[in-house]
Amino acid sequence: MPENFQWSPNKPLPKIEEHSIRKLDVLSKYLDVYFDTVVPNPRTERLNITLVDGFCGGGAYQKNDCIQQGSPLILLRAVEDARIRLNRNREKPLEINARYIFVDSNDNHIAALREQITDEGYGDQIGGSISLRVAEFAEELPRILREIRTNQRVGRSIFVLDQFGYSDVPMASIKTIFSELDRPEIILTFAIDSFLNYLREESAALEVYRQFGVNDAFISDWNANKSDEAFGRMVTQRLLMSNIQRDSGAEFFTPFMLWSRTDNRWMMLAHLSRHQAARDKMLGVHWDTQNSFRHFGRGSLFSLGFDTRLIESKDALFSFADQDRTRLEAELLAELPKEIHACLNDDSVSIEALLEKIGNRTAATNHDLFGVITELARAREFEVLSGKGTLKRAGTRIQTSDRLILPAQRTLFQL
Ligand SMILES: C[S@@+](CC[C@H](N)C(=O)[O-])C[C@H]1O[C@@H](n2cnc3c(N)ncnc32)[C@H](O)[C@@H]1O
Repeated sequence: MPENFQWSPNKPLPKIEEHSIRKLDVLSKYLDVYFDTVVPNPRTERLNITLVDGFCGGGAYQKNDCIQQGSPLILLRAVEDARIRLNRNREKPLEINARYIFVDSNDNHIAALREQITDEGYGDQIGGSISLRVAEFAEELPRILREIRTNQRVGRSIFVLDQFGYSDVPMASIKTIFSELDRPEIILTFAIDSFLNYLREESAALEVYRQFGVNDAFISDWNANKSDEAFGRMVTQRLLMSNIQRDSGAEFFTPFMLWSRTDNRWMMLAHLSRHQAARDKMLGVHWDTQNSFRHFGRGSLFSLGFDTRLIESKDALFSFADQDRTRLEAELLAELPKEIHACLNDDSVSIEALLEKIGNRTAATNHDLFGVITELARAREFEVLSGKGTLKRAGTRIQTSDRLILPAQRTLFQL
């Protein structure tokens, strides 16, 4: 077990590394945006949610002279903050009915977490809304799913699956979560470089690799590419991401890369969801944390799998910095019309359908895309109809309920 992830009650806290701080920062920011956007209706009176931390650890780290909270405490804090924030200026109070399931296979870690939770003032919830479990996540999952289905006829769930390597969250577990629950989201840590470094000819026969789409062709492509340390690795990483997304049951997958200085390796923090809006929120967080995360390849429109344009251009890293946003907008202005034309059905497409189609393949947030579509409408490439079917003035703010149509003149010309 890595030294920096060892907890015992009454023992000094492990030191935290830079990439773990960033990972926790993204988790924390995402949860804040999540709660702000899942309750858009001021009349909603209750939000049912289960927060599962499948690899919860001992709850805190030493960060220089300060304490850095680990993922379970971040989950508890996010709900507490959301309760206060969302109830400000509300006539009818919003009740957040949150349940927490914290799982770790190491009993010392659970004992240390119990202590942390108590020290932070949540001790009276243990055994009530907080359940602490010493178990292997994959083995515990069927029980967790049964409980969620029993306790929340409707409701949401977030699974934080911060495993050490890549083998403790089997694809079968991910698939089950997406097939059995109503609106789940998964935030998964995956040691993508270790995975590739361990690949051997014989790996294609092993289930631990096969479940991620590794076969003989995958391994021979990897062997052909890997001598090019940066590019070959990037191409294979993308293929692996694409396989995970395809088999997960989640339509939306946001893979962002996190560099571990100590191991000299890329880790992946992947967000999986069934809704474009959720992906959009996570993308917003990645833009926010700019330099902490790097996303391979171009940011405008790309494909997750093997993209031949990568070979042609050997694209640079896309790093969520300001200059990348400017480049991304220019690229989208050039590329989006073709994508929109490809989606047209009877000369029209809803913004919602367009987002579903391209959402997985761009680092642009909906806000960026709406800006580009507004520009295209100003240039009379398209016209915009409101949800009620009335023509909107070019330059008016785009909304998800709008539709794009070909301009009247062009349609006449085509007739
Ligand atoms: C990377 S640490 C988690 C750190 C934690 N998420 C945080 O933010 O502080 C991984 C944890 O998973 C636990 N673990 C390892 N294998 C496991 C398994 N199969 N099921 C559940 N927990 C496991 C380890 O004991 C360790 O505490």
